[in-house]
Amino acid sequence: MQPKAKFRKDYRQPDFTVTDIYLDFQLDPQDTLVTSKLNIQRQNGTATHLRLDGHSFELISVKLNTQPFTQFQQTSDALILEIPVSYEQFELEIQTRLNPAQNTSLQGLYQSGDGICTQCEAEGFRQITYMLDRPDVLAKYRTKLTACKQKYPFLLSNGNRIAQGDLEDGRHWVEWEDPFFKPSYLFAVVAGDFDLLKDTFITMSGREVALEIYVDRGNLDRATWAMESLKRSMKWDEERFGLEYDLDIYMIVAVDFFNMGAMENKGLNIFNSKFVLANPQTATDEDYMGVESVIAHEYFHNWTGNRITCRDWFQLSLKEGLTVFRDQEFTSDLWSRSAKRIEDVRFLRTHQFAEDASPMAHPIRPEKVIEMNNFYTVTVYEKGAEVIRMLHTLLGENKFQEGMKLYVAENDGKAATCEDFVSAMERASGLDLAQFRRWYSQSGTPELTISDDYDEKHQIYRLHVSQYTPPTADQVEKVNLHIPLKVALYGENGQKIHLKYELSSVSDVLDVIHEHQTFEFHSVTQRPVPALLCDFSAPVRLDYNYTPAQLMTLVKFAENDFVRWDALQTLYFNELRTNLQRYQQAQPLRFSTELLEVLTLVLENANKETELTALTLSLPKETEFAESFKLIDPVGIAVAREFMQKTIAEALKERLLVCYNYNKLTNYQVVAEDMAKRALRNVCLSYLAFTDVGNGLVHKHYHNADNMTDMLAALNAATKAQLPCREQLLYDFENKWHQDGLVMDKWFNLQATRPDENVLELVQNLLEHRSFNFKNPNRVRALIGSFATQNPKAFHAIDGSGYRFLVDILMKLNDTNPQVAARIVEPLIKLSRYDTQRQTLMRRGLERLKGIDNLAPDLFEKIEKALK
Ligand code: TRP
Ligand code: ZN
Repeated sequence: MQPKAKFRKDYRQPDFTVTDIYLDFQLDPQDTLVTSKLNIQRQNGTATHLRLDGHSFELISVKLNTQPFTQFQQTSDALILEIPVSYEQFELEIQTRLNPAQNTSLQGLYQSGDGICTQCEAEGFRQITYMLDRPDVLAKYRTKLTACKQKYPFLLSNGNRIAQGDLEDGRHWVEWEDPFFKPSYLFAVVAGDFDLLKDTFITMSGREVALEIYVDRGNLDRATWAMESLKRSMKWDEERFGLEYDLDIYMIVAVDFFNMGAMENKGLNIFNSKFVLANPQTATDEDYMGVESVIAHEYFHNWTGNRITCRDWFQLSLKEGLTVFRDQEFTSDLWSRSAKRIEDVRFLRTHQFAEDASPMAHPIRPEKVIEMNNFYTVTVYEKGAEVIRMLHTLLGENKFQEGMKLYVAENDGKAATCEDFVSAMERASGLDLAQFRRWYSQSGTPELTISDDYDEKHQIYRLHVSQYTPPTADQVEKVNLHIPLKVALYGENGQKIHLKYELSSVSDVLDVIHEHQTFEFHSVTQRPVPALLCDFSAPVRLDYNYTPAQLMTLVKFAENDFVRWDALQTLYFNELRTNLQRYQQAQPLRFSTELLEVLTLVLENANKETELTALTLSLPKETEFAESFKLIDPVGIAVAREFMQKTIAEALKERLLVCYNYNKLTNYQVVAEDMAKRALRNVCLSYLAFTDVGNGLVHKHYHNADNMTDMLAALNAATKAQLPCREQLLYDFENKWHQDGLVMDKWFNLQATRPDENVLELVQNLLEHRSFNFKNPNRVRALIGSFATQNPKAFHAIDGSGYRFLVDILMKLNDTNPQVAARIVEPLIKLSRYDTQRQTLMRRGLERLKGIDNLAPDLFEKIEKALK
């Protein structure tokens, strides 16, 4: 049977709603009994049937208004009850039996380590009991949990603890009540034995909130950063958005088995332990930042997601795009705005642009979905955040905040749509957002082609801007968008030119709304160098024919750090492109003197702007380079990139060494200045590894490291440059950390991304490694996911061995964890970007996968699109 698609246009209000739920869990890893009492209210006077979602459990009994009830039909994924039209309101009692230990899908109620927890977003609640499992059904929840006290001393759910007690048989119980109406996807339960870190937060209105972070026993020293991050998030949301926390308790539980990053369940966030645990020995600077931003993200959901939720799952970006925007702003306000922007743009260009070019292309508000889990995407999240950011650019902070206030006032306690949000912004600002709304319905990456001319006589400079959005897999016809294009003009000596039309100043944000448009600037006394798309003011590709000299001017003088970084990126991309061509034509590779000159300059100024230098000096990854080609040559890109790396290293060796030595630190602290120094020093190391001093330097760096950031940088340099010391260092690391899954993920990632010829064989052998566990998504992503996405040369081996390996794995994952399978299949569905030989092999792999029994809808949806 083929899974059925749902369409946004088919949204209907539910015929019935649930107002109150009482849930009773008798928890046991193999045999959990759930009793659910639903207060149901009729919404449609003529409906005769109530359809409740549910699957993957055993139905024990059904009662209607306390009497046994049999007027129902049970299907593979629903319970359809006959309800007399005279029943306005009634109580339904349903008993189900579950086996959490056998639930490897990690949705619904499942076992993680020695604990038991839930994951209900998007449609996991229906794996616990029958329910109107849709986000526009908002109910009040009361939950009673009973379990063995010794095994599960903590029994947690949403809201406030209202009662508890001990039973004579060694079990105990706790009852919870959540005073806020919520959809089923925000429901959560946790049972287990933990170490608990406690703190408090006083809100802006003076209420004290209890903060509790639950981690596996022995991990308390890894929870403090998460707690500090939480308090910073709560404070920031009050200060910047005026939003205050609303319950008396906020709990975070770290679990090892989790499909995604974390989950914003009301008052009880459940986190992948990767985004909670951090100390200097086990976490890198990057991990610290990841923990802080995910803690913030989930906290911010309390308003953008929970108090105001989504009407239907097509509106997912309403909460995700907005919440990503909010967590990005949080990080920007606390750390470096330009560094955060550069990192986010880099991620968007690499992954979201690739998604738009893939068979999975969809607008931030999708029209058609088979498996909702497949739409927690970079498009919905990151492009969604870009759309909010463009609104912010168009409105400015003040009007944007007025729009937020209006949005909250109008929608608090409700399930809203993207349109509700845009409408609030429109009314608060007085701007006409009619054309802007198209960002919600149109997929694809717009291309802005820009040319210019300078009229010396009249001192007029013109920018000719054209927009074009190429067709995508889901949508052929495209319309013109409203694109905010932020610009600046620079004179030859770097002075910024004031933007004027006739005698008045004009905004630096140009409103691109037509297919072709010309913008005129007056009183321009010399031919300027244009800085285009400053701060990446819109998620578009830019095509302007910069000369190396112009780019050099921008690198040197642009005020906007993003522009300076981006100018250097363009130089890197051009360099790679030319050398790839040479490689493909079997000509010798050559490095341009201009780029070396710029890099010399960058290194000379390194100490004045440590963080930006670290960012500009890092060579784009192979996958980043790949994204700029319609047809990707994975081997050629790897060769050309390594040539660039080696050439830079040799040519700038002395300067890199000076910079490396200058940025040495004596102790480890998570503060911006030191993080920047470590980053810069470690970039230098990554180049120096390719020179004759590499082996000695890297070896010393590893053994002198007193923190994971430096230790991992050394290991990375050793493996990427294939240094003689690498086996010994990898062995040492494994020996030290093999009991710690999160740390071992870094090691698995290094192994999977090795440039060595026999890397596939190594990866295959590591499936049997003592620290590997096929049931743990973090391990699967670290070893198999890394191989398929971060080692393009090996994955796309022309003999098809990489594809065969992935398909074999996916056939197993399809049965154990289809949600993770559908993530890992991504590189394979992007087949149209490769030559026909590779395409044929990739297609063969996908067809083999499509042929298996019980293909999950998650994989089905993607494979079918890919094979079209
Ligand atoms: N709402 C979560 C977030 O963005 C995402 C999430 C967590 C999720 N776990 C999930 C989505 C499982 C789908 C399935 O913060
Ligand atoms: Zn989210």
